[in-house]
Amino acid sequence: MAEKNSEELKRNKLELLGKLIVSLAHEIRNPLSAIKLNLDFLEMSRDELDDELVESIKHSQEAADRIKYLVESLLNFARESADDEFAPLNFIAAQAVELTKVKARSKNVKVIKQFEQEAESCHVHEKKLLQVVLNLITNAIEACDENGRVVIRTYVEKDKDGKPKYYLAVEDNGIGIKEEDKAKIFDDFYTTKKDGTGLGLHVCKNILKEQNAEISFESKYGEGTVFVISFN
Ligand SMILES: Nc1ncnc2c1ncn2[C@@H]1O[C@H](COP(=O)(O)OP(=O)(O)OP(=O)(O)O)[C@@H](O)[C@H]1O
Ligand SMILES: [Mg+2]
Repeated sequence: MAEKNSEELKRNKLELLGKLIVSLAHEIRNPLSAIKLNLDFLEMSRDELDDELVESIKHSQEAADRIKYLVESLLNFARESADDEFAPLNFIAAQAVELTKVKARSKNVKVIKQFEQEAESCHVHEKKLLQVVLNLITNAIEACDENGRVVIRTYVEKDKDGKPKYYLAVEDNGIGIKEEDKAKIFDDFYTTKKDGTGLGLHVCKNILKEQNAEISFESKYGEGTVFVISFN
């Protein structure tokens, strides 16, 4: 009984959190538009400004564009039933790499794409898979020290009947996961980060289950981690 209550409590908390995140994304839109407008306005006077300042305005515009993209992606994701579009796995993986570029650069982490051409034929739910891959790459970058390395791979393996099975792997050479923590990482609200919510992997697992895909991982503490998604 107590367990059932705590499950329900967790579910309510998750639901509330979802609503909070959506309203937060909403609230970010207006001030963000103001920032973008002001930056565009500043840029218009570029002839009167020195090169360094123009360069820094350009970087700020790029960063604002990325925030806009992230906020819009989140709001699109929330408008769930509106679009159920499918896209090739490689396209989604590339999009996720693009969206995490700033984070990777700020930590000096190198992100490497190794996409097999044949994985193009794997079509997955665009919004949902993007969310999953973003979470995995974000975790991988966060696990790395400065000068870490994250590799995103897509590949195909044939089963004994010659039927192709598609995979996406996110590998890092970061801190790794301790043996005793391995069973907990998909639990909701489990986090070892001071500013983490512990929802990333939990959400990934739920989305993948719903999409008939599976996720597994291997990790060695102090050496690195690889998460692998297989599509059925
Ligand atoms: N690539 C990784 N390397 C090492 N540890 C990892 C990795 N991915 C996940 N973890 C561990 O699993 C925990 C849970 O991850 P999860 O993504 O669910 O939450 P989080 O990253 O802590 O917070 P957030 O909600 O912001 O994603 C992390 O706090 C971390 O301890
Ligand atoms: Mg995370």
